Amino acid sequence: MTALIGAPRDRADGRAKITGTARYSAENDFPGLVYAALVLSDIPAGRVHAIETAQAAKLPGVLKIYTHENAPKAKQQKKEGEVIWRNLALLQDDEVRYDRQPVALVVADTYERAIDAASRVRVTYVKTDAATDFAKADTYIPPETNKGPEVKERGDADAAFASAPVKIDRIYTTPQEHHNPMEPHATVALWKGDDLTVYDATQGVFPTRARLAYTFDLPVEQVHVISPYIGGGFGCKGSVWPHTALAAMAARDLGRPVKLALERPQMFGSVGYRPLTHQRLALGADPSGKLISTIHEVKNNTSMFDLFVEPSTAITRMLYAVPNLRYKQEVARLNFGTPTFMRAPGESSGSFALESAMDELAYEVGVDPLALRLLNYAETDPDEGTPYSSKSLRECYRAAAERFGWSKRSSAPRSMHEGRELIGWGMATSSYPTNRSMAAAYVRIAADGSVIAATGTQELGTGSYTVYAQVAAEALGISPDRVRFELGDTTLPQGPVSGGSQTAASVSPAVRAAALDARDQVLAFASADPKSPLFGATPGGVTVTDGRFALTSDPSKGATYAEILARHPAAAIEGRAEAKPDPEIKKQYAMHAFGVQFAEVRIDADTGMIRVTRMVGAFASGRILNEKLAHSQYIGGMTWAIGMALHEATRTDPRNGRVMNANLSEYLVPVNADVPALEAILIPEEDPYVNPLGVKGIGEIGIVGGAAAIANAVFHATGKRVRDLPIGPDKLV
Ligand code: MOS
Repeated sequence: MTALIGAPRDRADGRAKITGTARYSAENDFPGLVYAALVLSDIPAGRVHAIETAQAAKLPGVLKIYTHENAPKAKQQKKEGEVIWRNLALLQDDEVRYDRQPVALVVADTYERAIDAASRVRVTYVKTDAATDFAKADTYIPPETNKGPEVKERGDADAAFASAPVKIDRIYTTPQEHHNPMEPHATVALWKGDDLTVYDATQGVFPTRARLAYTFDLPVEQVHVISPYIGGGFGCKGSVWPHTALAAMAARDLGRPVKLALERPQMFGSVGYRPLTHQRLALGADPSGKLISTIHEVKNNTSMFDLFVEPSTAITRMLYAVPNLRYKQEVARLNFGTPTFMRAPGESSGSFALESAMDELAYEVGVDPLALRLLNYAETDPDEGTPYSSKSLRECYRAAAERFGWSKRSSAPRSMHEGRELIGWGMATSSYPTNRSMAAAYVRIAADGSVIAATGTQELGTGSYTVYAQVAAEALGISPDRVRFELGDTTLPQGPVSGGSQTAASVSPAVRAAALDARDQVLAFASADPKSPLFGATPGGVTVTDGRFALTSDPSKGATYAEILARHPAAAIEGRAEAKPDPEIKKQYAMHAFGVQFAEVRIDADTGMIRVTRMVGAFASGRILNEKLAHSQYIGGMTWAIGMALHEATRTDPRNGRVMNANLSEYLVPVNADVPALEAILIPEEDPYVNPLGVKGIGEIGIVGGAAAIANAVFHATGKRVRDLPIGPDKLV
């Protein structure tokens, strides 16, 4: 049988999505459902002085207006140690700590009446001084967070840097960026007595359940979270934000189902963003380009009431062999909402600095940028000295360089052009850690041989319905067409948050183990049945192909799942499994996916208009579950890299802490015309250590290094080194 895992199958849910039958959170309706609309603050810091609701409350259809004066009790503060939880503004006090913070919630019988009434609520404030200017804010080293200590050193980085023959010491900056998934956040909440059901656009139904249970002081069993489809997440749906809890609060108080769907401008408020970063990256090297010392000092903004560290130094700690290294992560508190994870949090912003600096070093010592990476190639983890569970970065470099035609590059800046167009070629390394968490699954085989497999995981647009059906089908020895995968529901076996590129590595082993359990139960039943051709067969003496068990010794003797189960008394056979990472193996091996990106830009010499005309990436991420969907993930990440390099920036006004471009008309993301034919080469890689299937994550590595590759191409084209993203014509002419 041809391998089912890896096969480039079409999306199982593709038809449902394009025909509109896939139901997203905001599309759920119930009898008696009412609509909630947020009233948001107009100041970045201070207190609510008074809220005038009388006029709005009198409007037809308005049911209730919640403010800090009448809102039911809810826990705003997160539980200690909950990394993916955020402190929330839930109308529990009169404090305002960022512009666009929820200060009231209006509920009405229609959406239009709710937003109209919300616009008529008058709020007055007592303003206090706001910190909105990062350049003027004090920074401090936060306590240890989820990516290790915030200050660390190996060797003596400063002394080694001071005496290094070649030095690069630069500041790189990246702006705040807002996730803009196609589907804005949305919640529908309803209660039966003290039992809460929530339809929510979330990257984690179980963490959302836990947070809501905590917020309303309920046992988790009384909270049911459902999220079968989400229209993109990228990190902003990885935490619970105020609107979800506020919808649940109002639904309980009113005894009606409540829908709260954010409008696009409200995506730029209380639902997270990538913080801005200010990064000092210093490289000390010998005259050949061999690294002697690396120093990476990062500052990012967080909010006044919560801590988020953008771990930009994470990639610097592990990417190259360098004996002396020091890093530091600092934060500055500003009156903005709390930042959060955004696609490759840390690695994407950090790789812009590191891989730009490596390009600067390559020019400084006169070595080809790719050769410089090979010269500093890490054979073992530079921090711990542990071996890699697998690392195919050399193969990535070779394949992508060859495909791109890198050897034909002339190294001098401004040396390649065509008419008025300056042509630049740049490259950068990609990497992303291999994460994994506990996941559970069941696999049910019905009497007709059809299969339902399930884990309470999520479908972010990544292909979950498709790939886990492939995993179950391969273990069972049947066609994936016979398997339906279910997800996005807390009544299913537990799955982790879909963040940190960990879903495939976590869920696949659980689904596979549950499928093997179900298969073995079916075989055991046949083996015990004197009338079965498989009577007395052992698992080792049998193969399963296309849904039929056959004796290895005599393949003419066998039976299909349906034939065996026809005589089984139960309606279905159910296999169950729980799979979790082994902390010992995690200590013994460094586990990362690796890759490389090459970019070509063409720049109008007079106007500075930049177009990315070609990108070739090559990535090695362990075993690939579906080549077609993996390619989509990679080029999706590369598209994000184009946005990060050239378009995306949240512009805030320091006078009032307000986002000035809070809509897709002004917050620029790449459109089709900005995205050339992208190519991602899938480098085969076997990894016996990361998990039983050898799967590494692919959701985030595609963005890593991409912005640096483009910035390096811009330097090659123009001779201008732009260290401040995004790069626009304004920075070139
Ligand atoms: Mo991803 S930014 O960890 O959702």
